[in-house]
Amino acid sequence: MHHPIDTVTKSKLALTKNSLDLPTRLRRNRKSPWARAMVRENTLTTADLIWPVFVIEGDNLRVPIAAMSGVERFSIDQALRETERAAKLGIPAIALFPYTDPALRDDQGSEAVNGDNLICRTCRAIKKEIPEIGIITDVALDPYTSHGHDGLMRDGMILNDETVAVLAQQALVQAEAGADVIAPSDMMDGRIGVIRETLDQSGLELVQILSYAAKYASVFYGPFRDAVGSFAALTGDKRTYQMDPANGNEALREAELDVIEGADMLMVKPGLPYLDIVYRLKQDFGLPTYAYQVSGEYAMIEAASAGGFIDRDRAILESLMCFKRAGADGVLTYFAPRAAELLKMAS
Ligand code: PBG
Repeated sequence: MHHPIDTVTKSKLALTKNSLDLPTRLRRNRKSPWARAMVRENTLTTADLIWPVFVIEGDNLRVPIAAMSGVERFSIDQALRETERAAKLGIPAIALFPYTDPALRDDQGSEAVNGDNLICRTCRAIKKEIPEIGIITDVALDPYTSHGHDGLMRDGMILNDETVAVLAQQALVQAEAGADVIAPSDMMDGRIGVIRETLDQSGLELVQILSYAAKYASVFYGPFRDAVGSFAALTGDKRTYQMDPANGNEALREAELDVIEGADMLMVKPGLPYLDIVYRLKQDFGLPTYAYQVSGEYAMIEAASAGGFIDRDRAILESLMCFKRAGADGVLTYFAPRAAELLKMAS
């Protein structure tokens, strides 16, 4: 599927040196649906889809998110209904994100380590009702801090090691509540190792770590910050911890550290504008590698299709297939339920 460069070059030479001197016609293999099906190099299935779900306090609530048409924040009872639907569609895992009541946000992000916070209660409820689906939880302080940053702040600086200590506790309460996969998205240095150690010491050695190894300081997170309510709060930007979009080699160093520290899986974020990074991480490390088709990417497809400029369903499936072609083992996407429906209809 992913050929080393020299194999590709060799087959190119073979084609140009056609001894009969007949024209090469690559279109032969595309002449009909069955021929295309025969030579198709990659596949997209529902097993490739991970669905990010936003939760809020309350009962029987579904709150639309202005910046993400079609995406809602669910109270726990509604999240259960939707998770059940996702499981029935064959989606293997969901990724939970909280909208924290502003009254519970403080400069330390204390609510993140409350073992009875919204995320932990959601995990327990899902584990009880729908044990067959995987639960991924996000580790970072931004939904909990009054300043909207992923870490602790002092004199305008985001503190690294002090933050890591809190993140490890956050990961622990989530895992104890039933999270199957811990996904640190904070970009502090050294957090994977400390989280792994903390989990292992608590007998949670089977809880996986999906590291947001290469997470860029991206404008494409805008709608998400609206969804978790950290947008209005955020002071400054996240460029002292998230990566510079200009850098590719640095992503390999980020991933290498996380692999050494014990990451089970890697993630690249955002998705489509960063497919070169997906490709390189998969090639270099061979770990299960995921991409996050983030809120801004979702919003772009939604806006273009709402305007009548592109076909929404086809744009969803094409964009997801491109992640597979780049080497991703799966995609976190707000389109997951729709994509699963489309794949089911096509089969
Ligand atoms: C928070 C976090 C963010 C996203 C996932 N986890 C936002 C950020 O870093 O500001 C973005 C997801 C999306 O845009 O869909 N640590």
